[in-house]
Amino acid sequence: MASLRGRLALPVIAAPMFIVSGIELVVACCEAGVLGTFPTLNARSTDELGRWLERIAGRLAEFDRAHPQAPAAPFGVNLIMRSERLQADLEQVVAHQVPVVIPSVGNPAPVVERVHAYGGLVFADVATVHHARRAASAGLDGLILLCAGAGGNTGWLNPFAFVAAVREFYAGPLVVAGSIANGRAVRAVETLGADYAYVGSRFIPTRESSASDKYRELMLRSDADDVILTTAITGIPSNMLRGSLEDAGFFAGQTPRKNPFYFDRTYTTRSAWKDVWSAGHAVGESKAVASVQEVVGELLREYRAAR
Ligand SMILES: Cc1cc2nc3c(=O)[nH]c(=O)nc-3n(C[C@H](O)[C@H](O)[C@H](O)COP(=O)(O)O)c2cc1C
Repeated sequence: MASLRGRLALPVIAAPMFIVSGIELVVACCEAGVLGTFPTLNARSTDELGRWLERIAGRLAEFDRAHPQAPAAPFGVNLIMRSERLQADLEQVVAHQVPVVIPSVGNPAPVVERVHAYGGLVFADVATVHHARRAASAGLDGLILLCAGAGGNTGWLNPFAFVAAVREFYAGPLVVAGSIANGRAVRAVETLGADYAYVGSRFIPTRESSASDKYRELMLRSDADDVILTTAITGIPSNMLRGSLEDAGFFAGQTPRKNPFYFDRTYTTRSAWKDVWSAGHAVGESKAVASVQEVVGELLREYRAAR
C-alpha cells in the first residue's frame, strides 16, 4: 500500500462513475497523478472492455516513456458483482492485469484471489459498520467507506463516525467517499485517520469526462440544496440533481420542493443516470468546466496549503 501512495501525487482515487468515466477521463487522471477508474460496464461489451484496457495501458506506458521522472498513477476498474458480465469481464481484467480492482454490489470474495494472483490490489466499498467488519477479514487491500452525501448510490453514515468506528477493528488502508471535492477535504480524510479520498462528482464537469454538455451545465448551476436523496430512480437511495428530476417530469404541477428527500416510486420510466443525473452534496464546488489536470492541480495546491 505504501507503494500505491508513493505512485500518486496526492491521496485521491477518481471514483468509478457509470456513463461518466471512460478512457479519456481515466488516462487524464492517471497522467495528473491520481488513480483513475471506470466501471467495466461502461464498455459496451466484454470485447470492447478488452480494447479499452489495451488502450489505457498503452497510453499510460507511452506517457511513462515520455515522463520517466514522473510516471502516471496506476488505474483501476469497478466490477459490479451482480452483473451478468462478471465472469467474462473478470477474465479480461485478469488477462490485462489491471492494477486495482473495485468490486461493488455483492460479495467481493470471488475476485480477491484472482487479482492477488497477478499482484493486483482489491478495494471494496461498504456502507455499514457491519459490512466493514465482514470485509475486514476478506483479505482485501483496503475498504472504501461510502458515506452520506456521495454521488450515485450513496451511503448514509457520517464520515467522522464511520471512520472512527471502523478504525476500532481495522488497521488497513481506508478510503473515504462522499462530497470530497477540494484539497482541504482530502487532507481532512487523513486527519480523520483514513488514507485516501474517493472523489467522484468533482470530475463530472471536466473536459475529459463522458458526461453530456447539459449534465455539465446543470452541475455548474447546482448547489448542495439541489441534491435530492431518492429511491425513485434506482430503487435504492441515490443522490440526484433536482434540475434533472424536474426536466424528467418529477414534481410536475407541484410547487418546487424545498425538501431534500423524495421517496416516491411512482416515476421510473426515465432511464437512471442517462436522463436523470446524479451528483454528491459537494456539487457546488465545481465552478467551471475544466481539464482534469486543472482540477487535480487545484486539489494539490489546496491539499498542500492545508498541510
Ligand atoms: C454519476 C455517477 C455514477 C456512479 N456510478 C458508479 C458505478 O457505476 N459504480 C460504483 O461503484 N460507484 C458509482 N458511483 C459512486 C462513485 O464511485 C463514488 O462513490 C461517489 O461519486 C463519491 O461521492 P462524490 O460524488 O460526492 O465524490 C457513481 C457516482 C456518480 C456521481
